Amino acid sequence: MLNPKEFVKKIRNDNQALFEASKMNVKEYFENDLPEEEMVNHFIGRMVNERMNMSEISQQIANAADNADPKELELLSKQAHDEAKHYRMVREVIEKHMTKQNTIVWFEK
Ligand SMILES: [Fe+2]
Repeated sequence: MLNPKEFVKKIRNDNQALFEASKMNVKEYFENDLPEEEMVNHFIGRMVNERMNMSEISQQIANAADNADPKELELLSKQAHDEAKHYRMVREVIEKHMTKQNTIVWFEK
């Protein structure tokens, strides 16, 4: 059985071709002179995904059984925190770098 570091290394090595293909796709996509609206829509999709990840993991934590493994809860909490940071970072990309006048209204009050 592989230890965690060996397992991660194996996944990295086994999927190297996919990682390279993904990098090439991202490079090609962003090297094109895309209209701002398309870029904003692209990042809005990413932002929604990050928020959904955060919400789903948080619900899993909230609904965990009383006898749930504390270490697993700790790891899930860290992942929920990471997803919250990803959500904030993608949102900031849209707000600060992609909209000329910061005119996006995220939520109705
Ligand atoms: Fe994420």
